[in-house]
Amino acid sequence: MLTQVQAHRKKDFFTEMQDAFSQLEHQPLRKVLLDSLQAEQDSVRAIDVSFQNFTSKKHSPQVCRLFFASWQRTNNTAMSVAGLANRITHEAELALLIGENLSVALELFRSAGRLNRVIDEDLGVKGQTLHFELYYRMATKFSGNDDAWQSREFCLPSASDFKSWLDSARLVEPMMNGLFSMLIHEGYTHAELENIAPMFEKWAIEIMGLQKSDARRYLAWIAVHNGGTEKHHFAHACAAFEHYYRATLADINLEVASQIFQNYLRRKGEVMKQINEKIYGVA
Ligand SMILES: [Fe+2]
Ligand SMILES: [Fe+2]
Repeated sequence: MLTQVQAHRKKDFFTEMQDAFSQLEHQPLRKVLLDSLQAEQDSVRAIDVSFQNFTSKKHSPQVCRLFFASWQRTNNTAMSVAGLANRITHEAELALLIGENLSVALELFRSAGRLNRVIDEDLGVKGQTLHFELYYRMATKFSGNDDAWQSREFCLPSASDFKSWLDSARLVEPMMNGLFSMLIHEGYTHAELENIAPMFEKWAIEIMGLQKSDARRYLAWIAVHNGGTEKHHFAHACAAFEHYYRATLADINLEVASQIFQNYLRRKGEVMKQINEKIYGVA
């Protein structure tokens, strides 16, 4: 079964991430991203195995609630992107107030603007269905047509920790840390969703017994992030970083960047590994 699933997959997590990361023009930072991916390859493999195992059989509603509640805490990050953009517009307003060169404020506003482009789809700004609604549809359907998965009681503590850590990087820590977190998140998410789309479609049709059209409808949350969406988000995150750097000439601390990139992958790996352990009792 796993071999057949793998045969449907064009690329793996690593090549998809490398693909996204190659859009970053800042060479030293791009190297840190790629090195972090190498350093955390065990975490990335654990994530891959966890998704493969989840989509290899039918689970009880209880297991599905744990899966969807915990997974959501690692991927539902639009609010902290908006928060980071808010902080940058505040910095831009202050720059205007203290009479900084207009080009500084403009670069800051442009940085925040590119962060806003990352969350257009999530917020349904062109009238599309909100991504939260798509996730709700998917999680509820596969948790036995029951939306109890939304209760925090089903969420693993490591998944809540992941979200708190990511929120803090964007909402509390220096702005550059928030921008570093954007780079790793958008590049990683591109790889995750491109990779798991065929696994979930096969699972929904062959194991959960859905018609192809229904499988597509219930898995729309995954599909809307594919076909370039997340790669574009990564490009917007790169541009937000560049504009912010041009405005502030802030220190680009590669050591801090490396810690954030590796921490992200390690924490995500821990969440997915624990989901796997809860389901199968194995690492
Ligand atoms: Fe989304
Ligand atoms: Fe994204």
